[in-house]
Amino acid sequence: MTHSQPDSSRAPRRIVITGGAGFIGSNFVHHWCERYPSDRVVVLDALTYAGNRATLATLEGRDTFRFVEGDICDRALIDRLLAEESIDTVAHFAAESHVDRSIIGPGAFVQTNVVGTFTLLEAFRQHWLSHNQNEDYRFLHVSTDEVYGSLGPDDPAFSETTPYSPNSPYSASKAGSDHLARAYYHTYNVPTLITNCSNNYGPYHFPEKLIPLMCINILLGKPLPVYGDGQNIRDWLYVRDHCSALDTVIHKGQPGETYNVGGNNEVKNLDLVQMLCDTMDELAPDLPVRPSKDLITFVKDRAGHDRRYAIDATKIKTELGWTPATTVEAGLRQTVEWYLAHEDWWKPLLSQEYQDYYKKVYAPA
Ligand code: NAD
Ligand code: TYD
Repeated sequence: MTHSQPDSSRAPRRIVITGGAGFIGSNFVHHWCERYPSDRVVVLDALTYAGNRATLATLEGRDTFRFVEGDICDRALIDRLLAEESIDTVAHFAAESHVDRSIIGPGAFVQTNVVGTFTLLEAFRQHWLSHNQNEDYRFLHVSTDEVYGSLGPDDPAFSETTPYSPNSPYSASKAGSDHLARAYYHTYNVPTLITNCSNNYGPYHFPEKLIPLMCINILLGKPLPVYGDGQNIRDWLYVRDHCSALDTVIHKGQPGETYNVGGNNEVKNLDLVQMLCDTMDELAPDLPVRPSKDLITFVKDRAGHDRRYAIDATKIKTELGWTPATTVEAGLRQTVEWYLAHEDWWKPLLSQEYQDYYKKVYAPA
């Protein structure tokens, strides 16, 4: 796994990372603890099905690190945490994040993504006011490119000025939370920053998402379910590149601004699955089915399936100097290697709850 070089050139910060036991949040916690070992790092996570405390095991016991199990909708808990930890920075990842789950049950998405973000923003506003509107405080709201809707084959990539046009309950709830984060800057001057990122992949990715699902199904010899015609396009970003972008935005971004983050890696789903199959065939010693491409199965399309996402990341490059470092070929290889080496991490996640979810999406009654 990629490691970040320590940086001791600035005064330590005191950061709350919400959703730090999830996929991107946990990668960000590891990134931050490697890069800023003197910072106080508090993870707030409700440990839903997507949260896994084991991912943070190597950090538990450090005196700079604290894990708090709790809900971002719990205002009293957040008020207490911000005050007792003298927090100056919030990195907000906690969310319901899977489009297919939002189609089955949108309520949790509105609750966590909209109400939860509002609760955090309001608590942070009061905390910031009680510290004389300290100009070093930052609230980073981590969001998605899905708020911009779906692109046609020849449309220009999403920029920060593309109008919002969310199509799924997931993206609609994220859009609502983005609007709140933006409004808190414009109305109250709260130093919020928003990032809208393309699809991430890499270590600690919950098995329900495309890349880990395909890796695990190849290893188990199960069908590889490709939705529709497999021609939908996503722009793939290696998760540690996303973490370095967020670090850059916290340190160099202008409060009130939005930054799009992308990998410059547009790939059709079917091509991506075939790349994963080839890499698995090369790297995995024993596979139940070989070539693993034989497992590819076209299944019913996702309702309202967005056709194409693409990010124009010019602003973060020109204004903050950030660009992604990992090609999709290199990142996919590292990811396959990681899933091959970490069966102990992903096997326990294939729980009864996961099997029930899987049946609902892939074999609806
Ligand atoms: P994830 O589903 O893997 O993790 C979400 C985490 O939030 C889990 O640890 C979960 O326990 C926690 N959580 C959920 N509800 C909570 C609540 N009410 N209170 C406290 N904690 C709660 O998600 P992810 O893929 O790591 O995404 C993180 C953020 O990045 C999300 O806001 C998502 O919208 C955004 N994002 C994700 C991607 C992607 O490709 N995965 C791309 C762009 C943006
Ligand atoms: P996903 O990882 O769920 O991310 P998102 O929907 O947020 O982009 O899916 C990525 C793409 O892969 C998306 O176009 C849907 C498709 N997909 C499949 O074809 N089969 C699957 O089993 C899954 C989970 C996704």
